[in-house]
This record gives sequence, structure tokens and C-alpha cells, in this order.
Amino acid sequence: MLFLTGAALVSYYGVWGVSPGDVVMLSAFLTTLTNSTTTLAGLAPVITKGLESVRSVGEVLQAPELEDNEGKAPLDSLRGAVEFQGVGYVYEDAGRPAVRDFSLSVAPGETIALVGASGAGKSTVLSLVIGFIRPTSGRLLLDGTDMNTLDLRTYRRFVSVVPQESILFDGTVRENVAYGMDDADADEGTVRAALRDANALEFVDRLPHGLDTLVGEHGARLSGGQRQRLAIARALIRNPRVLILDEATSALDTQSEALVQQALARLVRGRTTFVVAHRLSTIRGADRIVVMGDGAVREIGSHEELMRRGGMYTALQGGQLA
Ligand SMILES: Nc1ncnc2c1ncn2[C@@H]1O[C@H](COP(=O)(O)OP(=O)(O)OP(=O)(O)O)[C@@H](O)[C@H]1O
Ligand SMILES: [Mg+2]
Repeated sequence: MLFLTGAALVSYYGVWGVSPGDVVMLSAFLTTLTNSTTTLAGLAPVITKGLESVRSVGEVLQAPELEDNEGKAPLDSLRGAVEFQGVGYVYEDAGRPAVRDFSLSVAPGETIALVGASGAGKSTVLSLVIGFIRPTSGRLLLDGTDMNTLDLRTYRRFVSVVPQESILFDGTVRENVAYGMDDADADEGTVRAALRDANALEFVDRLPHGLDTLVGEHGARLSGGQRQRLAIARALIRNPRVLILDEATSALDTQSEALVQQALARLVRGRTTFVVAHRLSTIRGADRIVVMGDGAVREIGSHEELMRRGGMYTALQGGQLA
């Protein structure tokens, strides 16, 4: 269902002039919020009825839940400093906050791994960084400026999202990768460079029509690992300053796993990254690990520091992380 929505959005792109970046964001958001009804109040009927019933996708993307950029300052550049100052978030209809008094100052280029039990608030933190939801208390600063005062559309040009399940649409490899760019006419060299960095060029070149091979509906003609690497290429081509990663939980075969991990390592380098991590290798590679519990920060530190502390993080190693 959500995959169809992503694909349908793509087909509306030309008609409504929504940028592909917006579509990638929205699709990613839809997949990270599979259980959500509240935040997507404006979108829920769209998802259930199909997009035919909507007058314009632009309208959807500008729904108050998603956008309120009237009179806000555009962001022309971003170093990638992200600071949470006592951020709280309460979903509509929810009795208790999903995120509470969350404070964290992230330097440009730093990788933050979010770990914690199911329902701890990890995905909510990601949605806050993307700006899909706004803090209900506290402040979120981008390069020192309150996000609420910024035009988030311009901010999102600097953001890439790699969701757990990558959204590919029934087009060519080239289209699927270039679609991460706001400038839809990515030249072949740019697409190939992104594929190379994503460890995907080799398999793409072996496909019957190379870059022009149709991937099938939802990328059905590709393996899980190949789909993920295309999603990484799509994220790379945007050359983001801020990267949002929701690491896939599904198991890949060992070789695919290694290729994906290597591509991810390349993707996060030099970019401010928030990753909901399940694999110990990803977690260990992070600059700092934030252990969340019941919406709050419980522990922060490197893997070694947290292991030495012998607290919640150590307990999580017992099973919750993987
Ligand atoms: N759209 C929503 N409406 C109401 N409550 C929500 C919504 N999305 C999440 N929640 C609640 O907010 C809390 C935090 O959820 P969140 O999805 O951020 O957790 P998580 O750490 O990502 O969990 P998981 O590991 O299962 O993905 C949970 O109690 C969850 O039930
Ligand atoms: Mg989650």
C-alpha cells in the first residue's frame, strides 16, 4: 500500500511540480510511520483512497501537518549542526509524550546511533530531525537557528532519508537513482558515480540494459541488498549534509550485508547522521550512541564507554538491539 503511494506520487511529479526530493522524503516518512494515523491525519484518506481522489500532491505536501513555511527564512547552506534543547513531543490523542526533555547537541559530521526498546521514541526523533513533526515543547536548532523559523523545504534539500524498506518504483535504475535529486536531469556520470559509491555499479552493469533496466514494481526484480544499495545511491546523489537512516532489520546474506555496510559507511562520512541502528557493527561505528528509554535519553557515549558503565546499554546487548 505504502509502496503504491510512493509510486503514485512519482507519477504525479511531472504534473504537480513537487520536487523528487519531497517525494523521497514523503515516501520515506510514510514507511517509517506504518502505525501512525495521527501525524498523517491529512494524508490518511489519501493513503486509503489512492491519490486519484486528491486534487494535487502539492496540496498534500503542503498540508499543515507537514508544512507551514509562510514567511519563514530560507536556508541557503547548512553545516549540519543539530541541537535538541529539552525537546518534547506528544502525538495527538496520545496520553503520554513519545519524546521527553530530549537534549543533544550534534556537531556537523557526527554520527549518532539511536538505540532502545520498541516504543522508546527513536523514530519520533528521526521525524523531528526531518521536520515532519515539530517539537511540542523545547527547541530544535539547525546551525544554531530555531527550526521553527526556517523554511523547511529549503532545509530538506540538504537532507537524505534511507528508510528501512527502500522505495523503488517501476522505472529504470537511472530514474530510481536520479529521482533523489531535485534536478531531475542527472547526467549519466553523476548517476554512475553515486552507484559506484553505493557498491551498486557492478551489479547494475551486469543487468540486461544496465542503467536503463526496469527494476519491476517496487524493485521486485532486484534482491533486498540490491534495492538497499540503490536507495543508498539515491541518498548519495543528493550529497546531503544531514542523513537519516532507519537501518533495516531484515537479514541479508553475508556478502550483500558486507556490501551494504560498506556503502553505508561511505554515505555517513562527513555528514551529520542519525541512525536507528540494529546491527552492532553500525552502533560501534557511531561517534556517540544515545540509549533511549520511554522517550528520554538514558545514556550517551561511545560503545566502550557505555559497556564500561554497565547500565542500560549493556542490558540491551542482551537482546533488544538486534
Ligand atoms: N502516530 C502516532 N500516534 C500516536 N502515538 C504514536 C505515533 N507514533 C508513535 N507513537 C507512540 O510514540 C512512542 C514512541 O514511538 P516511536 O515510533 O518513536 O518508537 P521507536 O523507538 O521508533 O520504536 P520501534 O523500535 O518499535 O520502531 C510509542 O509509545 C508509540 O506508540
Ligand atoms: Mg521506530
